[in-house]
Amino acid sequence: MTFDRTPALSDDTAGADPSVTDTALGDSGASAARRLRSAPTVPAAVTAAESLFRALTGSDPAGVWSAPGRANLIGEHTDYNDGFVLPFAIQHRTAAAARLRADGRIRVASTFAAEPVEVALDDLETLFPAAGAAPGPAEPAGGASRRLETPGSAPQTPGAAGGALPGPVDEQPGTVPEWAAYPLGVAWALRALVPTWAAGTFAGVDIAIASDVPVGAGLSSSAAIEGATSTALNELWGLGLDPVVLAQAGRRAENEAVGAPTGIMDQMASMLGQADAAVFLDCRSLETRSVPLGFAEAGLEVLVIDTGVKHAHSTGGYGERRASCERGAAALGVPALRDVTPADLPRAAELLDEVDFRRVRHVVTEDQRVLETVAVLAADGPRAIGELLVASHASMRDDFEISIPELDTAVDVALAHGAVGARMTGGGFGGAAIALVDHDLVPAVSEAVRAAFAEAGFAAPHLFTVTPSSGPRRDV
Ligand code: GLA
Repeated sequence: MTFDRTPALSDDTAGADPSVTDTALGDSGASAARRLRSAPTVPAAVTAAESLFRALTGSDPAGVWSAPGRANLIGEHTDYNDGFVLPFAIQHRTAAAARLRADGRIRVASTFAAEPVEVALDDLETLFPAAGAAPGPAEPAGGASRRLETPGSAPQTPGAAGGALPGPVDEQPGTVPEWAAYPLGVAWALRALVPTWAAGTFAGVDIAIASDVPVGAGLSSSAAIEGATSTALNELWGLGLDPVVLAQAGRRAENEAVGAPTGIMDQMASMLGQADAAVFLDCRSLETRSVPLGFAEAGLEVLVIDTGVKHAHSTGGYGERRASCERGAAALGVPALRDVTPADLPRAAELLDEVDFRRVRHVVTEDQRVLETVAVLAADGPRAIGELLVASHASMRDDFEISIPELDTAVDVALAHGAVGARMTGGGFGGAAIALVDHDLVPAVSEAVRAAFAEAGFAAPHLFTVTPSSGPRRDV
């Protein structure tokens, strides 16, 4: 199958992203949704990143760059099987305020960590695995930091003329906390793209990161950090890399620096997102096509129901599912499950044990659902995709077994109260569901979900709408 290559960075302005903020839509209902939608369009994260930068360095950043999180409309756990996905970038963004420095050190600070982390650029190759290594195995539980063995490369005290931040402490010399592995991993992955002789030419850099992408909700807060960082460094270091290469660098950071064995969907969605459209991605060829969604014209909203149950793909179930898929492909003699069709499933059932067979069936049928969703959107519009979303959720619940009772409740209750379709989104084991809901029904569906969660004894969910939005940009 061939896709038209679409321009990667949309030239729409910040004003194209309605800033529906990460706020519960409560009793105030539709009018609250309308009020939120007319909020200022400079993401709060941009301002927060600038302030943090000033506190860190005492000077202004050279610029602020941002990249969005994403919701996946359909196509779950198909990306690392070379299959198809249909995510869209959302209006929640992560911002990176940055400026080159005169030495060869990189310092990263974030609003979600008390202390900045600083290392020599030349130590990044020691901090992270050798270039070209395969995606790392799942990180052992508790493995939330990376050891940096090189003497003298422990975090240094910053020249914090602005002084509001505590200096980085040296409690654990030679390690970086997991959050810092994302931006540092991106810097490492970008350096690895240029010849060794040129690596010495990279200037040091200070980066301050702030985000309004909910963490642990399955909305790719990590891809947003990677995208903001890579977009900033691409410009500051004058690399001239295209967004697909930047997405690949982000995935490499996630796989090898952080140790989460994920596919490339999130980074591609963040880097190639366009307003009012989804990114139809062939994860084998990395060809993309922008697919108009037309939710607003159809009077539909995407309601996110964040269960608050945190997940981490660097541990546990995600890697196990991936291993099942790899066993399935090997048993069937194909490079990846992308090459298995529904007609091959009876043979798969004979070759595989019952659990691996169900994992394979999910991926094979999910690929078909993605293709069908793209076709149905074009032919009949967004109201016609509901059944595909529901079938996708059932497959993840029953065959891939990555849903949780909170997500099943969110989906069932949303559907029972009039949602056109609903499914969990993202890697699973927690995080969020999305429901395609008539604009006027958003308050009633939200209320019903809240009530059902309370009755089931689940923690209160976090409810908000997301809008298909544009990819990375320079904000300041
Ligand atoms: C996470 C990963 C993606 C993808 C999804 C599941 O978001 O980062 O690569 O595998 O899970 O579809």
